[in-house]
Amino acid sequence: MGRKKIALIGGGQIGGNLALIAAQKELGDVVIFDIPQSEGMVKGKALDIMQLRPHDGYDSEVTGTSDYNDLTGSDVIIITAGIPRKPGMDREDLMSINLGIMKDVAKNVKKYAPESFVIVISNPLDAMVYAFHKVSGFNKNKVVGMAGALDSGRFRAFIAMETGYSVQDVSCMVLGGHGDSMVPITRLATIGGVPVTDLISAKRLKEIEDRTRFAGGEIVKLFGNGSAFYAPAQCAIEMAEAYLKDKKRVIPCAALCEGEFGINGFFIGVPTVIGAGGIEKIIEFNLTDDEKNALNNTLEAVKKTVGETKL
Ligand code: APR
Repeated sequence: MGRKKIALIGGGQIGGNLALIAAQKELGDVVIFDIPQSEGMVKGKALDIMQLRPHDGYDSEVTGTSDYNDLTGSDVIIITAGIPRKPGMDREDLMSINLGIMKDVAKNVKKYAPESFVIVISNPLDAMVYAFHKVSGFNKNKVVGMAGALDSGRFRAFIAMETGYSVQDVSCMVLGGHGDSMVPITRLATIGGVPVTDLISAKRLKEIEDRTRFAGGEIVKLFGNGSAFYAPAQCAIEMAEAYLKDKKRVIPCAALCEGEFGINGFFIGVPTVIGAGGIEKIIEFNLTDDEKNALNNTLEAVKKTVGETKL
């Protein structure tokens, strides 16, 4: 049967970490693709990871390339191609450059890896995943944006930091767009099944929600010249693994809604089931009026960004 194949489009900060984690988890062989100017960098990263293998005992092959032919036969494609944020920029500021890149990537992925499951990470996420889907014509179950996993994970991390309890037992969901208008569903957050609303004051929870909303920007400010990469890479690998191992994981992701939650024709963060069929299902549940309003608000923000793609 052979090993699975994971291709990474963009071998920068996130791409390098994706390669490392995918190899260490032995999800399959890994191809890191980047533009010709960065071919040396991705070939170097690939070799470096190959040389880490003896110490970790895994057999995945990692290669670097700038030749799209090498995507052939990929089971999973993870796209980080584009530029990251700098201080003072929001995700939407990346639009013009990253949209051009995404259109080119979508055409090539369609040509060389038409059967793959595609995870988009490039920002502005809600527009980039929409653009990939439009340009590639892929089925909606094979295209997903990584955002909700990261936003929910940040919320979980902050709640664990607040309480001192294991992050493993913290369960949270953040829906909506991958921007400031994202919607943390705090009402449903639990620690080991105990509602966080019983454990943390409403005031502190509000502060934690706000920190979650701006968590990406907090890191951008600290770095000064780029955006987060460890957690985004881990989140996308979690999604890839759910697909490759048919795990039926329930993860909030930017999926194409066609009526779910009253949303039509947009990729937006919703609870999804990821298994061998890709995005096998969007799970709907009852929202409170406040949550509905917040979701409508985030939908307007997503519509605005997507509108700018003119696709
Ligand atoms: N094809 C493939 N790779 C490309 C292309 C292209 N057309 N254009 C640019 N790249 C590559 C760059 O050469 C670079 O190596 O994409 C890589 C991006 O890496 P970084 O600049 O290190 O950015 P990173 O931190 O990995 O973030 C990538 O993910 O979270 C988002 O906002 C972030 O949009 C950004 C993306």
